[in-house]
Amino acid sequence: MRKKVTVVGSGNVGATAAHWISSKELADVVLIDIIEGVPQGKGLDLLEAMPIEKRDSYVIGTQDYADTANSDIVVITAGIPRKPGMSRDDLLKTNYGIMNDVVGKAVKHSPNCILIIVSNPLDAMAQTAYKMSGFPRERVIGMAGILDSARFRAFIAMELKVSVENVTAFVLGGHGDTMVPLPRYSTVAGIPITELMDAATLDRLVQRTRDGGAEIVKYLKTGSAYYAPSAAVAEMVEAILKDKKKILPCAAYLNGEYGIHGLYVGVPVKLGAKGIEQIIEIKLTPEEKSALDKSAAAVKELVGVINV
Ligand code: NAI
Ligand code: 2OP
Repeated sequence: MRKKVTVVGSGNVGATAAHWISSKELADVVLIDIIEGVPQGKGLDLLEAMPIEKRDSYVIGTQDYADTANSDIVVITAGIPRKPGMSRDDLLKTNYGIMNDVVGKAVKHSPNCILIIVSNPLDAMAQTAYKMSGFPRERVIGMAGILDSARFRAFIAMELKVSVENVTAFVLGGHGDTMVPLPRYSTVAGIPITELMDAATLDRLVQRTRDGGAEIVKYLKTGSAYYAPSAAVAEMVEAILKDKKKILPCAAYLNGEYGIHGLYVGVPVKLGAKGIEQIIEIKLTPEEKSALDKSAAAVKELVGVINV
């Protein structure tokens, strides 16, 4: 049977995720948004690209959650960006309201789906979706670590003038200023990058990774990144639908792993048909553990504001 992926929010990230998913022929795609006409128009436009791409993904846009029924995966990108005069807490509370609304509607029509959360602030929104859905933690996954690691990988490849295919990297922690890039676990063709560049260069790339989202916003001015974020979503969708058992950094609800309890934080997980099939606990140095704890504390502060 054909797979079905719903993407809630057909703005930059949502529509581009639909593009990657359909052009890789991973599934049929339903785009949904509150703005009338936009998901319909983008959905039809994508559908009309399929003969050129030689792909048989069926794409539609809608305002009606009935059209999303029995989705295998629901990706949630709905939300608003921070506007002038709006505090971080205002944004948090607005997107919390949107997340509750869309998760409630989505899971009513797709009670067995896997939720991939993208909306910011990412870890707090994943925690909101987890609590609202009542799903087991395996089926509510936040997207951030793949994006942050991809940025780190791109910067490493540029610095060393090597293929991005040779570069692996891990960024853990919350999706924010406190994220934790792990140079010790980042390699080029299996060689730790700590062997390939000096500490000052490494520090510069780590900082650029932490500032990766802001760097794009500074260029775009009216929005944030969407090509790399949506490619990260497509990688998660592919790992799940093809049951690849792929190890990827994702935001997961921790129940004591890494000494963290009752909180969404980015960690390496195994993604397969059941969603998160394993949380991988890697050994951290005291400095790395303390950076992860600091990042978890920042997430905890945010979830405290919305009390989830
Ligand atoms: P966007 O503004 O282009 O699109 C958001 C869409 O959500 C809009 O079309 C809007 O109409 C829709 N929307 C708002 N309320 C809705 C509701 N109740 N139901 C359905 N749709 C609704 O924003 P963009 O660039 O697509 O980003 C989406 C979200 O993803 C933002 O919160 C952004 O901060 C976040 N993001 C997270 C990343 C991550 O690494 N986790 C990376 C990039 C973006
Ligand atoms: C990013 O990292 C905005 O969270 C988004 O680009």
